[in-house]
Amino acid sequence: MATKSESQILQLGDKIQSLAKSLADKIEREEGETTQYKRAEWDSLTIDLQNSIEELLLRVVRPKTFLHNLQLSHYDLVAFQVAFEFHLFDSVPLSGHITLSELSKRAVDEESMNSLRECYDWSSLENGVLVDVGGGAGHVSIFLAKHFPNISFLVQDLFPPPALGSDNQLAPKVKFQQHNFFEPQPVTNAKAYFMKHSLHNHPDADCVRILRSLVAALEKAGPATPLLINEGVLPSPGESMRRDQELTLRRGDMCMMVTLSAKERTRKQFQQLLKEADPRLQIVKIHGSAVTKLIEVHLV
Ligand SMILES: C[S@@+](CC[C@H](N)C(=O)[O-])C[C@H]1O[C@@H](n2cnc3c(N)ncnc32)[C@H](O)[C@@H]1O
Repeated sequence: MATKSESQILQLGDKIQSLAKSLADKIEREEGETTQYKRAEWDSLTIDLQNSIEELLLRVVRPKTFLHNLQLSHYDLVAFQVAFEFHLFDSVPLSGHITLSELSKRAVDEESMNSLRECYDWSSLENGVLVDVGGGAGHVSIFLAKHFPNISFLVQDLFPPPALGSDNQLAPKVKFQQHNFFEPQPVTNAKAYFMKHSLHNHPDADCVRILRSLVAALEKAGPATPLLINEGVLPSPGESMRRDQELTLRRGDMCMMVTLSAKERTRKQFQQLLKEADPRLQIVKIHGSAVTKLIEVHLV
């Protein structure tokens, strides 16, 4: 026996077939006639057909892919990405309630962060400080601090540090500092400088300034100190990439261009920015298989 969702799909298939037939009949009947199609009738048929096709697609590819493929605004996309990629809805209890802060804590410990955790030898930073430049409310540092308790994190952002509450167990390991990343980096003894999604939302000239402001600190911190750039990397012409990942990046690229005159970049484009900031800045490796990669840069 067909399940409820199978029979809904079959019903939609029948409906689409019958609508398509009505439309085809109409075209055949009216072709060659000098009169226009009866607009209202035509519109109602095509709208009904389009809605049914969309509904079928939604049921076949499931809501996550369907919404990803829709042309949405930047904010819608961000909201859906947060909701789906972090399995936000899986974390909402079926009964009772959950606070927003508990929900975000549960949701953030998911896929993309796990990939970041696994793609790099974080233990090489033990007993040192990682400076998270433009780190927002520090969700990446807080996540890494839970997994690597022997690393200290300093989250820098233009905006004042968030209030984390007195029960924050990570307080000794994750600290916050207000800093403008266009100004010279004040911490010169870090074991690594990290930057997530602080370049793809800036045009090239600003990225060069952001990167250049780190150079003096990298010099002082020593040649083994990496700059870790956590960003999507577009495939270069001729290079292949998983189709869904490329789609995500290309869509992000369009959003960045339209909303911020910025863009996603290829490895070569990242290297060009770095070279312009300082010719000694070299990409030594790109880590990870998730859509957001970890670009390891050294001052050589
Ligand atoms: C796209 S968000 C990325 C936040 C965080 N790294 C993440 O991945 O969730 C960019 C961050 O850069 C911060 N930012 C913007 N302009 C800045 C500036 N001039 N100096 C420091 N931080 C800045 C914003 O406040 C925001 O938190």
